[in-house]
Amino acid sequence: MALLTGSKKIKTAVFISGSGTNLNSLIKFSKLKKSPISINLIISNNVKSKGLKFGKIHKIKKKIFNFRDSISEKKILTELKKNKIDLICLAGFMKILSRPFISKFKGKILNIHPSLLPKYKGLNTHQRVIENNERYSGCSVHFVNSKLDSGKIILQKKVRILRNDTYKTLAKKILLQEHILYPKAIMKIFSP
Ligand code: GRF
Repeated sequence: MALLTGSKKIKTAVFISGSGTNLNSLIKFSKLKKSPISINLIISNNVKSKGLKFGKIHKIKKKIFNFRDSISEKKILTELKKNKIDLICLAGFMKILSRPFISKFKGKILNIHPSLLPKYKGLNTHQRVIENNERYSGCSVHFVNSKLDSGKIILQKKVRILRNDTYKTLAKKILLQEHILYPKAIMKIFSP
């Protein structure tokens, strides 16, 4: 994807709903010289999202939208345009974006999902993985299309499941890998 022009970084918005640990790792990554992205905007659908604190710490502009109607998406598009955003990273964002919204940012929306896609799309991933006695799980970074967790996969990391793992311990292990995988996937897309 040739979004990188000269030495300018790609202006990126990160969409969150919860703890925002992936947002934090993306912010740290964006500050490295080698990073092709800068984080210029944080969007949350949840005023109580713990991740919003990272916006405050790093002085990144943040906006909260309730997503109860299609007007929210229109307002977001205006905000993205205003801030010249060229890439969207979904990071624990719990709302499904509409088809028209996605088509306006075609090929420019990424997501991280805590499973080895195409297995275990959707919610409660770790619980289902443990219930099915899987030996491996992991995480995937993929492009977003209009079908849930179904866009082209960019990068995945496999994680071994131990006998005494619970869905909570597995979630923790995988989250640590997510923090490494998301920046790696961005490097893979944008580095020449
Ligand atoms: C991560 O496991 C991510 O894969 C999933 O939601 C979780 C978000 O965690 N989509 P955080 O908000 O980045 O800490």
